[in-house]
Amino acid sequence: MSLEMRPISEKDLSDLETWEMLCFPEDAWTKKMLLNHLEFHAAYLAFGERAQGYALICETPWEVEIFRIATLPNYHRLGVATFLLHSLFQEFPSKDFFLELRENNKTALNLYQKVGFGILETRKNYYPNGETAILMKRKPN
Ligand SMILES: CC(C)(COP(=O)(O)OP(=O)(O)OC[C@H]1O[C@@H](n2cnc3c(N)ncnc32)[C@H](O)[C@@H]1OP(=O)(O)O)[C@@H](O)C(=O)NCCC(=O)NCCS
Repeated sequence: MSLEMRPISEKDLSDLETWEMLCFPEDAWTKKMLLNHLEFHAAYLAFGERAQGYALICETPWEVEIFRIATLPNYHRLGVATFLLHSLFQEFPSKDFFLELRENNKTALNLYQKVGFGILETRKNYYPNGETAILMKRKPN
């Protein structure tokens, strides 16, 4: 089944809230946070017959920051996040991409390195639990 990507709108808010709870059970964004994000920023959905993954991003004239990216649990390790990231690189071909992640999220670290992100810096004690943050950047090809 081939994948496509489309923007997420406020019409998808209830679904987005459900996806957040499935993908980030410990720190899902609330409906209010998601609505606030959609009012000011952008989000994209990867879908085949059904929704498979999504990304919440912030675009400026110079760069794109990825706030959240997630693949729904039934679709892990099938290339959904890789597809989403490559589709975003095509959507914003001239922009630098930035993101930050928790040092212990090795799955995400592998993913980002695989699609061309490099480590810019680490920030110790960045998260409330004392965890280190890794800041990453990908330059346009
Ligand atoms: C991180 C996440 C988005 C990856 O999504 P995915 O669609 O399963 O990823 P892909 O299938 O595109 O995998 C791409 C690469 O990521 C890495 N990866 C994915 N799952 C992995 C796992 N379980 N263990 C180790 N590396 C993994 C691998 O390098 C993989 O390439 P490979 O399959 O050729 O080895 C998904 O695991 C997820 O939603 N996690 C919970 C939310 C999260 O932590 N998001 C990131 C921080 S915001």
